[in-house]
Amino acid sequence: MRISIASDHAGFEQKEALKAYLASQGHEVEDLGPASDGRVDYPDYAASVARSVAAGDAERGVLVCGTGIGMAIAANKVRGIRAANVVSPEFAALCREHNDCNVVTVSGRFVSLKDNQRILDAFLGTDFGGGRHGGRVDKIVALEQDAS
Ligand code: RB5
Repeated sequence: MRISIASDHAGFEQKEALKAYLASQGHEVEDLGPASDGRVDYPDYAASVARSVAAGDAERGVLVCGTGIGMAIAANKVRGIRAANVVSPEFAALCREHNDCNVVTVSGRFVSLKDNQRILDAFLGTDFGGGRHGGRVDKIVALEQDAS
């Protein structure tokens, strides 16, 4: 799968490790930065990944910051993005199955690398359930069309 990934300084170390993990699993990973752990602003990197997914350049996006929260808030401002801040594999699977999320945001400070690897496995390995969930996601998309 084509995946874009980015972080801020707080997520940099795990971003590097998760990038290598995803590549080892056969994914095509585009690293949208940063290139070092110097202090940066997470909305800039959330925007890069969100725009790459919204444009279809990547099928899914992965964002890492201290908590994952700021990345999710910022990524969700981009039309077409459904980003969830996830701290367990169960929620990773559910955000795909029920919400058709196309971006996952994870914590580099409060969740271990091993757990984040399991989260990515679930996020990338779970299909959208469709059915009753489809109508609800359609309503999210409609809200986005209404937004000025
Ligand atoms: C950076 O200190 C921190 O605020 C950021 O990584 C993130 O946790 C924001 O949501």
